[in-house]
Amino acid sequence: MFAVPPPPSSESKPGLYAELLAQAKSLLAGERDTTANAANLAALLFHALPDLNWAGFYWMKDGGLVLGPFQGKPACVRIALGKGVCGTAAAARRTIVVPDVHAFPGHIACDSASRSEAVVPVMSAGRVLGVLDLDSPRPSRFDADDARGLEAIVAVFVESTDF
Ligand code: SME
Repeated sequence: MFAVPPPPSSESKPGLYAELLAQAKSLLAGERDTTANAANLAALLFHALPDLNWAGFYWMKDGGLVLGPFQGKPACVRIALGKGVCGTAAAARRTIVVPDVHAFPGHIACDSASRSEAVVPVMSAGRVLGVLDLDSPRPSRFDADDARGLEAIVAVFVESTDF
């Protein structure tokens, strides 16, 4: 049985992500189901990272992105490749940090509270499987430390999960 981890105690962002990475490894160990692991990881990130209003996944299906497990308000279900922050990150195959979503051309507003966003592609063997999307009501919530920390967590998720 998995014990819910305590909230991270570190004050620094790299320290917080080091704790979160360890928690993610322990949360995902022993289970390889995509939905279960994605749902639990979305919940871990949503509750452990401050100032989020949405955390979750979109999966690549039939050439576009389709909503996966998440925490937050109901969200748009389908996003075309190259559209919005999610579709742009999936098409570019790299992490995108958007300090001000209103200044991002084509941003898709699922929750009007969102002010900044970070999207990390979920990739395996050079193939984009989907994206991890985090939204914040705080402008400039995400920086390079978040990008690095989230990429490491996504790498653990990919290693721990069957797709
Ligand atoms: N804002 C995203 C859409 C997904 S929601 O934020 C959950 C985008 O522009 O792709």
